[in-house]
Amino acid sequence: MAKEGFSSKVGAIAAAAGSAVGLGNIWRFPYVLGENGGAAFLLVYIAFTILIASPVLLSEFAIGRMTGKPVTAAFKQLAPKKKWYYIGLSGVLCAFVILSFYNVVAGWTLYYSYLSLTGQLAELNQAEISSLFENASSNPIICILGMLLFAGLSAFVVMRGVEKGIERYSKILMPMLFVLIIVVCIRALTLDGAEVGLSFLIKPDFSKLTPESLFVALGQAFFSLSIGMGAMTTYGAYISKKQNLASSVFSIAMIDFFVAFTAALMIFPSAFAFGINPGQGPGLVFVTLPGIFNQMAFGQLVSIVFFVLLAIAALTSTMSLLEVIVSFMSSEFGIKRKMATFIASTLTICSGIICAISSTVFNFFDDFSANVMLPLGAFFIILFVPLVLGKQKIKAELEAHGQEFSLFNIFYFLVRFIVPIAIGALFIYCIAGWLF
Ligand code: PHE
Repeated sequence: MAKEGFSSKVGAIAAAAGSAVGLGNIWRFPYVLGENGGAAFLLVYIAFTILIASPVLLSEFAIGRMTGKPVTAAFKQLAPKKKWYYIGLSGVLCAFVILSFYNVVAGWTLYYSYLSLTGQLAELNQAEISSLFENASSNPIICILGMLLFAGLSAFVVMRGVEKGIERYSKILMPMLFVLIIVVCIRALTLDGAEVGLSFLIKPDFSKLTPESLFVALGQAFFSLSIGMGAMTTYGAYISKKQNLASSVFSIAMIDFFVAFTAALMIFPSAFAFGINPGQGPGLVFVTLPGIFNQMAFGQLVSIVFFVLLAIAALTSTMSLLEVIVSFMSSEFGIKRKMATFIASTLTICSGIICAISSTVFNFFDDFSANVMLPLGAFFIILFVPLVLGKQKIKAELEAHGQEFSLFNIFYFLVRFIVPIAIGALFIYCIAGWLF
């Protein structure tokens, strides 16, 4: 397959981390955490990330690297006579669904970068900040323009093959974003009334957990690590055999978690200090951040840099989503990458317009992709490991070049029993709850 897109094989790990860290950590995680009661949800999320999502990520990397092929082609090669490649196909569909609403949110970050640059966020009071977001998110022109600009930008990057550049810069820019989040955190934690937000985040109240919130935590863990739809399988194809997959998964999961956690640590103390409802949904980050920036020294500068870096974090995630569609089109139909990127972007812009106009469709795509498509995809990917690959093959891949993976038996136990049973049980429980 074409190996364009990565400057080095080790670059693939950085790219995978870039795919994982994005709006899912900074926009989605705080809002679902806020809607689902805080600390108890956080603990469940951590448990799911370790016990369920990380084994899936490791399996996806192994399947991709074993074949050197993108997701549908990988499944076709490993199980030629069976219909497993439908997993890959559903992943391609899922990439469309995610890109449709993700581009809209990324468009909002561009709009907020513009507002910060022109000083329009400075000195607004909380009521004005909240109504600004309400007006912007219900204004089709702003939403469509922002989405178009962002989708155009990522299409340009992928079409021109300048991912290498983005990859190189993001190695500097993403740590910068993390440092900035920590700085904002410190300000947030020193606001009057911040303690309430902090205890919301660290004092668990298990009575707030519903079966549905368990499901949302699972979906968020998958969404945040970009798993269950083949993005990481496709990136796995680019990873060097010399790279230790298990330790790469460990680093990616840690980075991803800490970005999400510090984002929450920045949002909740501020939300409580400013009297914002933590369960208000997808607008949470956008109505909270401008208020903290306004209380900081060099607030306007922080605000500009923050929103621009956030847009770049989103870009490294949309690149991986586009990669799933583009590599599918080029490996299945022989369509050239540029043309494939053009087609994929045009289609996602069309569905993005619907998300930009209708918050019902936006919310449905957001919930359906994370809570239904990704868990289902992950369920089949994980079944594939014992049913088709078998223990020896996956072990050989994870221990390629004499790599050590001392936790293999635990990993395999999780893959065979815990992961499929947990996903299956939560799925049935939730569907039953919706139906009856
Ligand atoms: N993980 C990305 C984020 O947190 C979103 C994503 C999901 C990217 C699925 C690729 C595949 O923003």
